[in-house]
Amino acid sequence: MSVLVIGGGLIGSQIARILAESGERPVVMDVAPQPEALGDIVDPGRITLVRGDVLDRPGLERIMRENGVTRVVHTAANPLLTLGAQENPYSAVQVNIVGTCNVLEAARALKLGRVVVASSNVLSHHLAGGADGGDVMKEDPFPRPATFYAATKQAVEALGINYARWCGVDFVAVRYGAAAGPWRGTGGGGPSNIFRAAVEGALRGEEASVPPGAMDWVYSKDAAAGAVLALNASHLESRVFNIAMGRLYDGEEMAAAVREVIPNARIRVETPPGTAVAVQPMAGAVDLSRSRAELGYEPAYDMAAAVRDYVSWYRAHRSAQEGSA
Ligand SMILES: NC(=O)c1ccc[n+]([C@@H]2O[C@H](COP(=O)([O-])OP(=O)(O)OC[C@H]3O[C@@H](n4cnc5c(N)ncnc54)[C@H](O)[C@@H]3O)[C@@H](O)[C@H]2O)c1
Repeated sequence: MSVLVIGGGLIGSQIARILAESGERPVVMDVAPQPEALGDIVDPGRITLVRGDVLDRPGLERIMRENGVTRVVHTAANPLLTLGAQENPYSAVQVNIVGTCNVLEAARALKLGRVVVASSNVLSHHLAGGADGGDVMKEDPFPRPATFYAATKQAVEALGINYARWCGVDFVAVRYGAAAGPWRGTGGGGPSNIFRAAVEGALRGEEASVPPGAMDWVYSKDAAAGAVLALNASHLESRVFNIAMGRLYDGEEMAAAVREVIPNARIRVETPPGTAVAVQPMAGAVDLSRSRAELGYEPAYDMAAAVRDYVSWYRAHRSAQEGSA
């Protein structure tokens, strides 16, 4: 009876930590495991780390059977999220859509319990169209995903909801804000790496850039807590939940949060080169009322708390290697 965490990256590592700290022994599966980076976040002696590919369905089912898996949290995604999908849409479709379909099929075949899948709040703002205002008899009733990554997340949610409706798979999606948090490995998306560069640059006395547009973020520890709440909730009315800070931070507010913790930080409010498509501004913060009511989710980290926690992690785990701060 174990939980399989698919994808041991920025968010999956924190999910594994929370599960391990609660006394479970999660199985963490990744196509390219990063044991050193994982070891910063979770005690390696309290997880089972396996190499596996969501695109290898027989291999996925073998890992599930051999480890007595009964529930899944699926966080694997095509590298660099929005930016990666714009570069290589075909690969994003394979990993994000076909990979998730393999997880849902495996859950159906093995009659697993709940399957929590990471989605994204790009579905609240990387949208265009909808001129027909909800009239489904016309061709353009609803806004559609306006990037390849958002298109894959739309497909994942739609597939999961239909696997629940028609195949009895207990699918739940957690829609994350732009995620940031401790992680020395490769991974995360454009915003994750902007946050990391801003905070680590400030600690090293280097100038860094944050985008001007307002976005709703989530600290990786809150993202993971939301996934575990979704995994363990007993009676859910809904299958899709927003997990974010629940308020917008524009570039000036982000810079202020970094300076609150690192007073001499030099932050320029300017979109870092090559990231514009991944940091499109949001018109409003996502609504957390469903997550609060059904999951009991409450973000523990606002932006300043996120920066403060990141800095203490960095000082504990990274300063020695980097020879700084
Ligand atoms: N980071 C963000 O800003 C953000 C925001 C919203 C949603 N999300 C979603 O949350 C989830 C986790 O994101 P993250 O930031 O932790 O990503 P990440 O890149 O840090 O981790 C994903 C992990 O999946 C692994 N992976 C990739 N392809 C795989 C495959 N074929 N089989 C098995 N493992 C594979 C990677 O090696 C990586 O370790 C993703 O679904 C992502 O789309 C992330």
